Amino acid sequence: MTQADIGLIGLGVMGENLALNIADNGYKVAVYNRTASKVDAFLESAGDLAGNVMGSGDLAAFVGMLKAPRSVIVMVKAGEPVDAVIAELRPLLEKGDVIIDAGNANYHDTVRRFAELDGSGIGFLGIGVSGGEEGARHGPSIMVGGSQAEWKNAEAVLTAISAKFDGEPCCAYLGTGGAGHFVKTIHNGIEYADMQMIAEIYGVMRDGLGMSASECAKVFNDWNAGPLDSYLIEITGHVLDAVDEASGQPLVDIILDSAGQKGTGRWSAIEALNMGVSATTIEGAVAARSISSMKTERIEGEKLYGAAAKGKATISLETLEKALLAGKIAAYAQGFAVMAKASEENGWNLPLDVIAKIWRAGCIIRSRFLDQISQSFASGTAANLLTQPAFVELMKECNGALRAVVATCAVNEMPAPCLSSALAYFDAYRQANGTTNLTQGQRDFFGAHGFKRIDREGDFHHKWPSLVAK
Ligand code: 6PG
Repeated sequence: MTQADIGLIGLGVMGENLALNIADNGYKVAVYNRTASKVDAFLESAGDLAGNVMGSGDLAAFVGMLKAPRSVIVMVKAGEPVDAVIAELRPLLEKGDVIIDAGNANYHDTVRRFAELDGSGIGFLGIGVSGGEEGARHGPSIMVGGSQAEWKNAEAVLTAISAKFDGEPCCAYLGTGGAGHFVKTIHNGIEYADMQMIAEIYGVMRDGLGMSASECAKVFNDWNAGPLDSYLIEITGHVLDAVDEASGQPLVDIILDSAGQKGTGRWSAIEALNMGVSATTIEGAVAARSISSMKTERIEGEKLYGAAAKGKATISLETLEKALLAGKIAAYAQGFAVMAKASEENGWNLPLDVIAKIWRAGCIIRSRFLDQISQSFASGTAANLLTQPAFVELMKECNGALRAVVATCAVNEMPAPCLSSALAYFDAYRQANGTTNLTQGQRDFFGAHGFKRIDREGDFHHKWPSLVAK
């Protein structure tokens, strides 16, 4: 057999499907996995694609299967496993070869790996890949970071295997170094916020309005034909509709309300905090997962304070739909603002319109809404979505609904950390005269931190009275 166009290390669910996707697009792909039996099983199951796949459980033999200059996709668990693979691979590669890390890496690790490979002649790309198993097999969204030269080498394959929106590939070069992994991290932060807000709206339906899972499913299915049309709304309908075979009950009613998290949502919040960008809705979503995992304490809490009354809310489904849209606008505004700031700090020049474009298909947050966002960023220069004309109109139309839902949640004792923080973000963003004048006064009182005045230029300090300790 001729040599492979590209190699792939790591035959987990994502790696296996990415390899089949590459083969399906007419490229020859060689695979390697530390557990050699996985390679055999993969090759045996390749079916019609057998002619385009090859592989070995021996790393040197695998490298020998690749056309020079070699491109090797690494799709292993993020963190130390990636460093271990790079360390083993490095002596087997030559100048001009490229390692492509396609996992959910922390972008700081990506920056470090670039530095470690610098001067070795071996290139590196850090790419964010979104879309889960299905996306990996039939077209994910791919966010590329690294040098233009390396991108040029990998461009044809990565573009071919990516999802397409109206024929346009959902794969783009976004910037140097860790840009691709940073953007993927923020994608996931937005994904957390999106999912949490959907869960909060479901909570209003279930607990506030007393709706059954299948009644909720019908509403989400209907919404998927409107402005909320998205993959996450679509799967929400399916999740709510599923019935547990063993008990005959709606599956969602017997799934434990304790959410897992692998880290990307938390990293988004950490990066936002580090850069001083307000991303409270993303933070709220991370915190909501954390408190959800405190099941035992929450059971005790309910005993201490009593359960919230059920079925007492009065709010229309139309209001819930509009509130979710308004919450989404605020959450996406935060995510894009974080990327804009990171772009400035890292000199990436991130194309926000292109990012929205390549999220329109393939990835977990794909939606009609992202098409509107990309058009908006393409025609305007403002970094915050809340100032883009199309979204100003939408927000004017929908913020009242968000307000009504947050008020309903507060009155009916239903937690809504993301919807309420989205509303607070919006209200703070459009409030010309805030209240931190008082905060500044306090800071100056106890720490002589100084303040600025609205009527004069300069830095000021007031002679505050000294308080006698009680
Ligand atoms: C994607 C997903 C993917 C994965 C997350 C989930 O874009 O394809 O975001 O990356 O599902 O790792 O993360 P949590 O386990 O933290 O929810």
